[in-house]
Amino acid sequence: MNIVITGASAGIGFSLAKLYAKPGVILGLIGRNKSKLALIEGVCVAQGAKVVTGAIDVTNCIAIKEWLLEFDRQFPVDLLIANAGVTSIMPGNGEGETWDAVSNVLNVNILGVFNCVHPLLEPMRQRKSGQIALVSSLAAFRGMPISPAYCATKAAVKSYGDALRGWLRHDGINVSVICPGFVKSDLSDHFPEPKLLIMPADKAARIIYHGLSKNKAIISFPFPLDIGMQLLAIIPAFFSDWLLDVLKYGAISKQPQNKP
Ligand SMILES: NC(=O)c1ccc[n+]([C@@H]2O[C@H](COP(=O)([O-])OP(=O)(O)OC[C@H]3O[C@@H](n4cnc5c(N)ncnc54)[C@H](OP(=O)(O)O)[C@@H]3O)[C@@H](O)[C@H]2O)c1
Repeated sequence: MNIVITGASAGIGFSLAKLYAKPGVILGLIGRNKSKLALIEGVCVAQGAKVVTGAIDVTNCIAIKEWLLEFDRQFPVDLLIANAGVTSIMPGNGEGETWDAVSNVLNVNILGVFNCVHPLLEPMRQRKSGQIALVSSLAAFRGMPISPAYCATKAAVKSYGDALRGWLRHDGINVSVICPGFVKSDLSDHFPEPKLLIMPADKAARIIYHGLSKNKAIISFPFPLDIGMQLLAIIPAFFSDWLLDVLKYGAISKQPQNKP
């Protein structure tokens, strides 16, 4: 089995790579940090997998396309997990997200995902096989004032995955959208408390692994938070806005000062 995982140098992607690593598996592991990639490569090779690493920024559409097509030529991809992502949180001082933070999260979480999926669509369609997993978030179900741009990126990824699934099923390609709640990682460390029902990355990876093995359309967890976020999306907005404030996922606002 040939598997590509982006964002494999840390967090959920690191745990997924460990889980899939075994004899007979060829892993293509992507991230930017070479030393962290070397670390996960060592772990996976020790478990019997063959590993090809790519120290590439997923926002570099040309570099990622070339790498993916070369990997796919040698090892036709059975499973792509587009997992690499970053976050953007409101600063907490009453001001909004900076434009640098907004454009970075849009570039990595949306364009970065599309850059990884798009090159593999035609090869997979020609083979009439393959599986694509897009890592979104429970934040896709209802935008939270504490991280507006991040939530928007995850909604975009979920929508893209839902749409691809309906199209690609005619070509024998399976698409899953993964919507985790809080998972312990560098990314979630940026998020202020409370992190309801936070779980270790290894546990999240096991849930994702089992969901993908069953080809579930949506792999969303943990259960109560999943239902809670879906309910927030359908109850009246005044009530969900209030609830998000109570749960501390709201954001304070300070009038911008006129700068000279
Ligand atoms: N943790 C949570 O609570 C949570 C909840 C819901 C969804 N998610 C989603 O799960 C995914 C993984 O998050 P995580 O919690 O595991 O975060 P993490 O520990 O910070 O890991 C993020 C991974 O993405 C890679 N990455 C970031 N920017 C990249 C870029 N421009 N090009 C290539 N690789 C890049 C990082 O590698 P390098 O630094 O080496 O580039 C790292 O391997 C993200 O899409 C995130 O939105 C996380």
